[in-house]
Amino acid sequence: MTDVSLGMPQLPAPDYPADVRARLEADARDVIARYPDSRSALLPLLHLVQAEEGHVTRTGMAFCAEILGLTTAEVTAVATFYTMYRRKPSGDYQVGVCTNTLCAVMGGDAIFDELKEHLGVGNNETTEDGKVTLEHIECNAACDFAPVVMVNWEFFDNQTPESAKRLVDDLRAGRDVEPTRGAKLCTYKETARILAGFPDERPGAVEASGGAGHASLVGLRLAKGEKPPAKVVSPRSSGYASDEPPADHPSSHDAPQQTSASDPAHPSGPVTEEEE
Ligand code: FES
Repeated sequence: MTDVSLGMPQLPAPDYPADVRARLEADARDVIARYPDSRSALLPLLHLVQAEEGHVTRTGMAFCAEILGLTTAEVTAVATFYTMYRRKPSGDYQVGVCTNTLCAVMGGDAIFDELKEHLGVGNNETTEDGKVTLEHIECNAACDFAPVVMVNWEFFDNQTPESAKRLVDDLRAGRDVEPTRGAKLCTYKETARILAGFPDERPGAVEASGGAGHASLVGLRLAKGEKPPAKVVSPRSSGYASDEPPADHPSSHDAPQQTSASDPAHPSGPVTEEEE
């Protein structure tokens, strides 16, 4: 293999110690068995190797490639595309400040600037004690609670520069911190393992999240070979209670079956001279 940027041959990634590899292989087989096509397991497996080392290393990517029958280039392309995969050693707590438009104008920019000064780090940098990595993040669909800070993907709503500084001080001091929503915080490695698809065993985690919704659970029940639950009728729909949709709604949702291409009153394509 050649490192194109340097024109130097690149050494193969070192392997995990035998006991670590055996444990990761068992976990990986568990994850892969959930998918009809093994390559679909790449995203959770990247979380799995991130849970091992705190970031996605060359060793982790080589492991994913080998066990899924992919090339390291394919795995690298995915691992470097998504920002939830970290590529360098980072802190136990990933503190993300939303600086998208609404949070920014509601104080997110001020929070980020003050945290940088308070912690003595820049964007994507880690405090000297290895506890906190600061980053600015994009909108996490919690705009009603702007400005929002996330720690290891748990929400801290309606923050101020002062509350955010107290938050990072508590994290660095090892004091318990409660997110606005969600269960008690865990470390980044523990979070990565949950994201890999292993049970979230934090006390109260299911209750705090409200649990999975009906639609999310349908696929799980089907995968277990159980009968799918009865259809839930949306309060906004015309309301049909049986499992069979009426003849004028042949699809399971309410999307119109006719498109402009099949509707002579609304032909698609550019307007012709005759039509003008
Ligand atoms: S802009 Fe911050 S959560 Fe949407």
